[in-house]
Amino acid sequence: MNGPEASPFLAACRGERPSRRPLWFMRQAGRSLPEYRAIRGTGSILQAVKDPALAAEITLQPIRRYGTDAAILYSDIMVPIAAVGFGVDIKAGVGPVAEVPFRTRADLDRVRPLDAEGDTPYVAETVRLLVRELQVPLIGFAGAPFTVASYLIEGGPSRTYTRTKAMMLGDPQLFADLLARLADHAITSLRAQVAAGARAVQVFDSWAGALHPAHYERHVLPHSRAVFDAVAELGVPRIHFGVTTGELLGLMASAGADVVGVDWLVPLDAARARVPAGTALQGNLDPAVILAGWDATRAEAADVLARNGDHVGHIFNLGHGVLPESDPDVLARLAEFVHAQPVPEAGP
Ligand code: CP3
Repeated sequence: MNGPEASPFLAACRGERPSRRPLWFMRQAGRSLPEYRAIRGTGSILQAVKDPALAAEITLQPIRRYGTDAAILYSDIMVPIAAVGFGVDIKAGVGPVAEVPFRTRADLDRVRPLDAEGDTPYVAETVRLLVRELQVPLIGFAGAPFTVASYLIEGGPSRTYTRTKAMMLGDPQLFADLLARLADHAITSLRAQVAAGARAVQVFDSWAGALHPAHYERHVLPHSRAVFDAVAELGVPRIHFGVTTGELLGLMASAGADVVGVDWLVPLDAARARVPAGTALQGNLDPAVILAGWDATRAEAADVLARNGDHVGHIFNLGHGVLPESDPDVLARLAEFVHAQPVPEAGP
């Protein structure tokens, strides 16, 4: 392969025939890798990303180990909202936590616009370091307005999103104003990442699957669409991903995505039927399968590929991020296995 120009990942994103089956793993950089644990140090990820040399090295580690067809920036969806001073922290063993949750209109004052250069110069610096080193495209990313808002409103991770839904349905104007500001953060951040050299973008609406499709369509989709519309002119493929989004896949495609990420609960052939022809799919091996060892992983990966059939618009991935307990050797064999499969001849 000769760098991003010949990238199988970018070809598949565009629904063109790739030179080999492209693959990368969400959360490929991080805690499953011993070389990551060796250099990571202590302190929250919000601190770690302020060190571009460290963040770039962590981003590169899985490329060296697995030969994945894309890199994803080592960062977090909470970086912009933290950088504008909302007051969020990443608590070890918990996740993103808001010191004072978002509850009233006055809290909008803590969601001022993001100035990418002034607030997060280290993000673009990390991207610039990476694109000098990488032979594969770098994926930039942002949290979708809903998923970031859920942390701000709940005050931390949630299983039920009750406060978020209560605001969405009880004070829809306040909810819309918050999501509009978070959409602007995502747009500003993605533009800066692409300007620095990212070759694709992924919008993580990880928790949108908690919503009824009608609620998603009315209260969330317009804000995600604003993000996709704004980055369309950058000319890079746009990926839209969430978990338990089986009922939302068509709507998520309609936000303007070139690629829809599919979790492991929806058979890939069923997912294909839910998005418009020409939309590429990314996914969707159950991350837990890796923990079952190589034989199970090979069988399940073969099933994913069989369900993809002869569609060239497919990027192999897990249905969510690599679990920390994953054996890197199983992921390495998985990458080798997928890369060894013949590329379909034709088909959208
Ligand atoms: O240095 C570290 O501690 C690395 C692990 C870590 C990340 N984020 C990396 C990340 C930690 C502790 C966080 C904090 C965080 N942020 C958590 C806790 C979960 C955990 O792994 O301990 C959570 C849930 C968030 C919120 C978040 N960040 C979401 C919902 C997403 C979207 C992806 C998903 O899992 O649904 C992120 C993105 C993210 N966090 C990335 C990385 C490296 C980028 C995406 C990727 O690599 O695929």
